[in-house]
Amino acid sequence: FDNQAVSSARALPLYMQLAQHLRQLIIGGAINDRDALPAERDLAERFSVSRVTVRKALQSLTDEGLLQQRQGAGTFVSAPPRVEQPLSVLTSFTEDMQSRGLTAGSVWLDRTTGTASSDEALILGLSLGERVSRLRRIRLANGVPMAIENSVVPSRFLPDPGAVSGSLYDVLRARGHIPHRALQRLSATSLTEDQARLLDTQPGSPALHIERRTFLPTGGMVELVRSSYRGDAYDFVVELQLSA
Ligand code: GLP
Repeated sequence: FDNQAVSSARALPLYMQLAQHLRQLIIGGAINDRDALPAERDLAERFSVSRVTVRKALQSLTDEGLLQQRQGAGTFVSAPPRVEQPLSVLTSFTEDMQSRGLTAGSVWLDRTTGTASSDEALILGLSLGERVSRLRRIRLANGVPMAIENSVVPSRFLPDPGAVSGSLYDVLRARGHIPHRALQRLSATSLTEDQARLLDTQPGSPALHIERRTFLPTGGMVELVRSSYRGDAYDFVVELQLSA
């Protein structure tokens, strides 16, 4: 906590300054998911404000969904929304979020075309030197970063990656390239410092590395995706059946 973060010298109401400071600590991971916050009285002393100010700040963060107030137990940092994805159904991130009442978003890191690397050409079945569109973005659920996704799509299916602002699958479908089937490999990993910064979490946190190869009904591969999903925010669920 920065005791100087709240000051009556600034124009913003004190409770908003306090809420802003706490929000930064929560989002930056300095106060961890599910941690209890100090008691109202302690916060009031630390920031030299009244308990009413503390209460208003905590209430506004609770309304934003960042805090949970539990009767008799105190105030806790909310866990990020945990999303479950059935493994056997081919869906887009946007659809996964919609079906849970969450809003999908993207922060774009790269949306360019280039020559396929030899590795990409081999996997996508392209000739050496063929062009691909690269889409690299942070995927958000209600504004919370959930995953970093790197999609590579042959340019003949998507000549202009700038045409994708929301759902990639919607744009592909609109052009008549319907993602029909995918193979997906999940492996356990931990986040590098760069990835953790992009996902607003701690370096070394557990994550799922997912590689997806998506095919068209004609059998051609339409995308190669490598992504990292936050381990504390995503569950993949699979149904098992007795083999016939
Ligand atoms: C999921 C898949 C990605 C796919 C993406 C498309 O996240 N793992 O392989 O590229 O959905 O999502 P959207 O259509 O929302 O861009």
